[in-house]
Amino acid sequence: MKIAVLPGDGIGPEITAQAVKVLNALAKNGLKLEMEEALIGGAGYEAAGDPLPEATLKLAKQADAVLLGAVGDWKYDTLPREKRPERGLLRIRKELNLFANLRPALLYPELASASTLKPEVVAGLDIMIVRELTGDIYFGQPRGISTLENGEREGINTMRYSESEIRRIGHVAFGIAMKRNKKVCSVDKANVLETTELWRQVMIELSREYPQVELSHMYVDNAAMQLIRAPKQFDVMVTGNIFGDILSDEASMLTGSIGMLPSASLDANNKGMYEPSHGSAPDIAGKDIANPLATILSAAMMMRYTFNDETNAVAIENAVKKSLAQGYRTTDIWTEGTKQIKCSEMGDAVVAAL
Ligand code: IPM
Ligand code: MG
Repeated sequence: MKIAVLPGDGIGPEITAQAVKVLNALAKNGLKLEMEEALIGGAGYEAAGDPLPEATLKLAKQADAVLLGAVGDWKYDTLPREKRPERGLLRIRKELNLFANLRPALLYPELASASTLKPEVVAGLDIMIVRELTGDIYFGQPRGISTLENGEREGINTMRYSESEIRRIGHVAFGIAMKRNKKVCSVDKANVLETTELWRQVMIELSREYPQVELSHMYVDNAAMQLIRAPKQFDVMVTGNIFGDILSDEASMLTGSIGMLPSASLDANNKGMYEPSHGSAPDIAGKDIANPLATILSAAMMMRYTFNDETNAVAIENAVKKSLAQGYRTTDIWTEGTKQIKCSEMGDAVVAAL
C-alpha cells in the first residue's frame, strides 16, 4: 500500500504527523505500507512556484491513497488565483477524478456537551454527507471577473451539472444508504435553480434502482435550518459541491468541533484522498494545539474505503474513542473536568490506545 502524504500549510504538518504516527503503529503490527511526502498548497508554491507541483501530482497518481493535511494561508490571498493554495487542492481533486466526497458527522457520546447545541439534540447523531466534489459552480465555465462596457466590473461563476455527474454521485449515496439506515435526503434549490431541478429529476429516476431506500428532497435553506433544529432526522444527505461545502461545515459543529470531522474523496475505483474537513487554521499553526482527530479518523476512512480493511479502520476509530473516554481533549473540545492536552499528545494517546 503506497500512501502519498501531503501535509500542506498551517496546522497541516502537525495534524498529518499524528495520523502518520498512527499509520506507523499499524505498520509495526504488520500492516504493509509505504509513505512518501510531497508539497501542496502554499508549501508547494514556496518551493516550486505552483500550489500543485508536478512531482506532487505524479506521486499522488502513483499512490494508492493520499493523506492530506490542509492548505491555505491569508498571506497568499493576494496571489493570482492560479497560484493560490486552494487551487492546488481543487486541481488535485479534479486531476484524480475524486468526485465523491464523504463527510461523516458522528457524535462521540463523550463530546455531547462540547457541541454548541443541547446534548439531547445531538446525542446519537450519525449523518453521512455525500458531497459531489468535481463539478458545480466550483468548476463551471465561464468564470472570472471582467469589465463591462460601462466600466463597471462583473464577477461570473457558472453552476452546472451534467446528468452523468449527478447519476454517479447519486449511486454512491444510495449505495452507502443501503449499508446504513436506507434513507437518502437529496439537497437542492430546485425551486429557483435549473441545475438543481435536473439534480432532483435524476435522483428520482435513480431511486427506482434502489427500491429499499427512502428518498426525500429538501431545499438547501431548509436543510441548513433542519440540521440545527433536528439533525437526527438525517441518515445520508447527498448534494452538490457548493451546498455540500457549506452544510458539512455546519454539520461538523453538531459533533462538538470541526476538528472531529474526517473526509474521504473517492474516484470510481475507490482510490481516495483523505483529509480533515477543516482548513489550515493559520492562526494556531505551529502551537501544537490543533485537534488531530479529524485527520486520524481520515486515516481510518482510508483503511475502510481504499484498502478494504475494516479491521484496522475500526481499530483506529476505537482508539480515538478510548482516548476520548480517558478524558483527553485538545482545546477545541475541552470541557470542565477533562484533561487538556496538545496535538502531539493526542496523537500519542491514540497510538497508546491502539
Ligand atoms: C473544503 C474546503 C475547500 C472547499 C477549500 C479549501 C477550497 O473548504 O474542503 O471543504 O471549498 O472545498
Ligand atoms: Mg469547506
